[in-house]
Amino acid sequence: MTAFVLEARDVGVRFGGVRALHGVGLGLRPGEVCGLIGPNGAGKTTLFDVLSGIRRADEGRIVLAGADITRRSPVWRARHGLRRTFQRQQLFGQLTVRDNLLVAQEWRRGAAASRRERAAAVLHECGLDPLAERYAGGLPVGQARMVELARALADPPRVLLLDEPASGMSADERARLASVIRHTAEERNCAVLLVEHNVAFVMELCSRVVVLDLGEVLAEGTAQEIRADPRVAAAYLGTQDVSRTPPAAPPAAGR
Ligand SMILES: Nc1ncnc2c1ncn2[C@@H]1O[C@H](COP(=O)(O)OP(=O)(O)OP(=O)(O)O)[C@@H](O)[C@H]1O
Ligand SMILES: [Mg+2]
Repeated sequence: MTAFVLEARDVGVRFGGVRALHGVGLGLRPGEVCGLIGPNGAGKTTLFDVLSGIRRADEGRIVLAGADITRRSPVWRARHGLRRTFQRQQLFGQLTVRDNLLVAQEWRRGAAASRRERAAAVLHECGLDPLAERYAGGLPVGQARMVELARALADPPRVLLLDEPASGMSADERARLASVIRHTAEERNCAVLLVEHNVAFVMELCSRVVVLDLGEVLAEGTAQEIRADPRVAAAYLGTQDVSRTPPAAPPAAGR
């Protein structure tokens, strides 16, 4: 079985009295799309923050391609191919869509022409050609989320962490998003970890799903196994039953 490209080992995070994550272990393989679901406050974004280096875990280790990166900065991690998008969007609003992608590659030496070429290819793949010269700050949330994804892809990632990328998207935008995620995983051998409240979207796209609840891994398995797991249904009680319909979507722009 292929080795993990990214691993969280026994990760724990506390916010004062709140145990946001406890003993969380998770591994991603190259080329797979893994879903991460769980009720509001389960710890999904906190896990992304720890994986991407924005937050230091109180316990546990993060391992990238076999190397311990627990103490590495977010910038170091990004430059080694670990990229993410944010639940609360973080685009450069004063820059055009194209420049948002160019900035993401700026650290790379070499010809500016190749960076421009790469940006153009990713814009095209994401259906963003018509928006390339628009300021990112003025875009509706669905389009802005696609730009954030494009920016994460501008410099080819090894691991892509997507925090509610479909939230605020139209059905057409969601279909494009699904196809870009699939292509990124399958053609570029990138590992994708997808957080989404739209469980139907997750189940369709992900070969494997991990369920977090109250900061702990509650279940892990194929989409089919997760749908049938009574513990997962119980964790969602009060929202909806995952075996039939997705839980209520969060507000369009995240929190
Ligand atoms: N900066 C913070 N300070 C204090 N508590 C926090 C902070 N960030 C998150 N928490 C708490 O940690 C827990 C996990 O939050 P987190 O945002 O990771 O959940 P989530 O699964 O991403 O939820 P959602 O689905 O609503 O985005 C929650 O109880 C939350 O209130
Ligand atoms: Mg979150």
